[in-house]
Amino acid sequence: MSKATFDPTRFNKSNNTPFNEVLDKHLSRRNFVKSGLGLSAMTAFSGFGIAGCSSSSDNDSNPVDGTPSTPDTPNVSQATLGFESIAGSKTDAVTVAAGYSAYVLAPWGEPLNDKANAFKEDGSNTAEDQANSMGMHHDGMHFFPLNEAGDDGLLCVNHEYIDQAALHPMGPTVDADGNRTVLDEIRKEINAHGISVVRIKLNNGMWETVKNDDYNRRFTGATVMDIAGPLAYSSYLETRYSPDGSQARGTLNNCGNGYTPWGTYLTCEENWPGYFVNRGELTQEQERIGLSTSGTRYGWDHLAGNDDERLDEFARFDVTPSGTSAANDYRNEANGHGYIVEIDPYNPNSRAVKRTALGRFRHEGCTFGKLEEGKPVVFYSGHDSRFEYLYKYESTALWTEADANSANRIITGDKYMNDGTLYVAKFSEDGVGEWLPLTLDSVTTDGNTLADSFDSVASIILNTAGAADLVGATPMDRPEWASVDPFTGTVYLTLTNNTKRVDSTNPANPRLNNSFGHIIRWDEGSNATEFTWDIFVFGSPADGDEETNRSGLTDMNQFASPDGLAFDKRGILWVQTDNGADEVEEYTNDQMLAIVPSPMTDDNGQQQVVSADNQAELKRFFVGPNGCEVTGFAITPDYTTVFANIQHPRNWPYSAVATEETPDGTTVRPRAATVIIRKDDGAEVGV
Ligand code: FEO
Ligand code: CA
Ligand code: CA
Repeated sequence: MSKATFDPTRFNKSNNTPFNEVLDKHLSRRNFVKSGLGLSAMTAFSGFGIAGCSSSSDNDSNPVDGTPSTPDTPNVSQATLGFESIAGSKTDAVTVAAGYSAYVLAPWGEPLNDKANAFKEDGSNTAEDQANSMGMHHDGMHFFPLNEAGDDGLLCVNHEYIDQAALHPMGPTVDADGNRTVLDEIRKEINAHGISVVRIKLNNGMWETVKNDDYNRRFTGATVMDIAGPLAYSSYLETRYSPDGSQARGTLNNCGNGYTPWGTYLTCEENWPGYFVNRGELTQEQERIGLSTSGTRYGWDHLAGNDDERLDEFARFDVTPSGTSAANDYRNEANGHGYIVEIDPYNPNSRAVKRTALGRFRHEGCTFGKLEEGKPVVFYSGHDSRFEYLYKYESTALWTEADANSANRIITGDKYMNDGTLYVAKFSEDGVGEWLPLTLDSVTTDGNTLADSFDSVASIILNTAGAADLVGATPMDRPEWASVDPFTGTVYLTLTNNTKRVDSTNPANPRLNNSFGHIIRWDEGSNATEFTWDIFVFGSPADGDEETNRSGLTDMNQFASPDGLAFDKRGILWVQTDNGADEVEEYTNDQMLAIVPSPMTDDNGQQQVVSADNQAELKRFFVGPNGCEVTGFAITPDYTTVFANIQHPRNWPYSAVATEETPDGTTVRPRAATVIIRKDDGAEVGV
């Protein structure tokens, strides 16, 4: 989460609680089996991301991740989890299934090049050091191979937010009024945000970062980025820095991630509204998204006007109108945030691009759907706040496999991600759902159209959630990551929790006081607006009552607050948690579990949900150290290495291994890091 940056306020004030009269249907839902579009509709699909990307190439391997193609991929995974579920753990160490080992790679503060000094245990590294080192609070990530073997590649890592106490020697320096006073500290904080791209290589069975590699680069909270799509060059983006509205500075609170079929990285701007302040009257879209009115999250605006400030680097976080026009102040600065950002890791000279067509909200992740030649490319993204919505973007351009090998990946991104239709999800009681378009002619619940409230597509995008309110979208329990089953094409989505759901449920979010979260899934229908859905698994403590423990979980797989979610191409679904519920936390730290959903079918071939009968299919694979969140998943094309991130550990990694200098119990400056997980015999992970 953003345990420190999640905003618990309910910003969705709409009354979109369809079926609020519907009583809890949990007992019938437990055995709910999807109907209509099932596996049969997917039989034509021969391996999303595998054959779909590469069947024309000689060696038939996926240019995105080097995965060998299997032209006759069956529509049910053949994978079987080959490890025993592990017990929970409550230590300052990581725990992994028997037969596996784990070690740390690329922790916060590790230099990417010689412009940075080595990490200093006392927290005294400078802003310049931080701009050339791994950022803080690792989150979503992806591995981009540089060779067929997959033992050399680029790791792209999000850095969601910061721990000011750990970042500086004694925490942030402030005056008697609580105002920030040290310019380099603020720059260091801005530079600890964003994304790292780092070259990594496997040497003698150990992954190592490659310092000073030409691919290594940082994107920070200050990096200049291009704006593309409906808001490019619009007056909404006009600032003193970018009077033509073509650019924005920085990407903030990068939580979940995605990647594209053409080999670029997608990073998602989540809890960005708190980084800005409007001390005047909020605009409609600022109020809807929850822009701060009291102050900026870390006080980055405090040194606005300082003699050493460069190009309004601090002033821009105060979006209170102050000049005679938008071109004279930063009233629109926040309008440059809240997007999916595309990065080409293979081209170190490329600029990042904010893809505004995919909507503006608190994006958790961004996942492309089943690819089909001649069909639109689809991306899914959840708005992670209580009672917010799930969105789908569908490109106007139709997919062609040749674009998987594009020479200019950002131009390919322009083709698929700048022009399309944004939809929001409405879930119905009978297991069917509807994608509601957010276009000017979309009909609203009061019988008008969005054109009665918005004057352009750009204005709809700017206030995406406000438009979604009007068309009657279903308020969800904090949509986090989505992932697509490579065998069935079914899309899975984590709904992490919603303890503020106190007075009404809806079929897709059926538990009041949803402390433990659930994973929902859907299959697209025969046209762009239909889908069918069910709930795959409910988080719960093992000793939860029937109302709570609807999936029959035990000690060996109890979990709460599913968040990170990723299928690998063998059909294994990896589930990561960001738990805040005491009932599970007293048993285990945050964790990563695995399950293979596609073979879980009944005698008629219908996909089954997790229940007391089959819950043992869900196995705990990995547990993180005390205080952390486990988030971000990547895997090498040969499946022999899994990468997972440990975010905001309490006292880690050094105490993980007791030495003379750091015996058990030693308190250390905690460092988020990537963890490498490999089988001791070097074989595939998971099976
Ligand atoms: Fe940053 Fe929604 O977790
Ligand atoms: Ca979370
Ligand atoms: Ca998350």
